[in-house]
Amino acid sequence: MSGLLAGIRTLDDLDVQGRRVFVRVDYNVPLEGGRVADDTRIRASLPTLLDLASRGARLVLASHLGRPGGRRRAEDSLEPVARRLAELLPAGEVVLAEDCIGDGARKVVADLRDGQVAMLENLRFHPGEEADDEGFARGLARLCDAYVNDAFGAAHRAHASVSALPKMVRDRAAGRLLVRELEALGRVRSDPARPFVAVLGGAKVSDKIGVLETLVARADVLLVGGAMANTFLRARGLCTGRSRVEEDRLPLARSLLQRAAERGTTVVLPVDVVVAASPEATEGRVVPVESIGADEMALDIGPATLEAFTVHVARAATVFWNGPMGVFERPPFAGGTLGLAQAIAACPGFTVVGGGESVAAVQQAGLSGRFGHVSTGGGASLELIEGRKLPGVEALR
Ligand code: 3PG
Repeated sequence: MSGLLAGIRTLDDLDVQGRRVFVRVDYNVPLEGGRVADDTRIRASLPTLLDLASRGARLVLASHLGRPGGRRRAEDSLEPVARRLAELLPAGEVVLAEDCIGDGARKVVADLRDGQVAMLENLRFHPGEEADDEGFARGLARLCDAYVNDAFGAAHRAHASVSALPKMVRDRAAGRLLVRELEALGRVRSDPARPFVAVLGGAKVSDKIGVLETLVARADVLLVGGAMANTFLRARGLCTGRSRVEEDRLPLARSLLQRAAERGTTVVLPVDVVVAASPEATEGRVVPVESIGADEMALDIGPATLEAFTVHVARAATVFWNGPMGVFERPPFAGGTLGLAQAIAACPGFTVVGGGESVAAVQQAGLSGRFGHVSTGGGASLELIEGRKLPGVEALR
């Protein structure tokens, strides 16, 4: 294996028959009314689980859910997730251990037969998980003979189940999902076919400084939408009314624009936006970016901007997209994000979308199947594109 996967074994290299295989998955999924509201991440782990089960492994699944801060919190129980997974597995059964370490967990795991699946309760009910604590990792290590990481979405966290634990287990490997993610995002990061068009949106410049800096240096074209674009518009001296702007990031935005100009990277900012008094408004008004009223907020990119973005996307050989173009959860401000999803889906090049909100928009538009790769990672995909080493990947080498 080359690139990001160099020195990392895969499922094919593991002997799993009759062995307890600890699979770190990312089942940090949205819940609504005690049920899983979006099971994308659960489905994405199925190739690994089915492969291991068919080869006679005894599966011990572990995940975090939410941010319970090291305490047991009923609303963050993985119980609804275990139920949903059971519905998706042919055997229809998942035993949930009431804790992730200790005697109870050991008993559940000891009772497993070949091909059966157990799930441990939320790892983050213990402070040792986020602290990457060795003692906590040793407790988990007692439950496994081999370790598989398929939790791409959590690979950027140096947490015990992702970092300390695999280093304690000799037989460790990347799962099918992790391999697919590293191959697709690795291709965008290291060897993008050109023109390489990156599209960034979402609320804040401050969340995406690293990736903006990388893309300004590596992409051929950078399209900026969402509330993040307001900070750039303001940096160019425009009045943005009551739009969300990060005043303290104006110098950074100016410097990014300057660097892009020096390097010859085309940065395209909105030329028109959909404005309203607030995100709760039932309709918006399209205005050129020079005409945003003092009492108005920009809540989506406008049609002329979408058209300009579409022209760049149509010519791209590689597209990487992260972050919505507006408040797409609200119908009056969804046009830019959904239109962009359609434009990227129609692009014949290699297309990758990452980040919870942009992926949700792609799904809402029914376009997931028309993307080259839909990443299950938000922060993890950004850190990878940025060129950072992910602790969960490094621990597998
Ligand atoms: C995610 O949903 O992005 C991952 O599961 C990581 O979750 P975290 O941001 O709470 O660490």
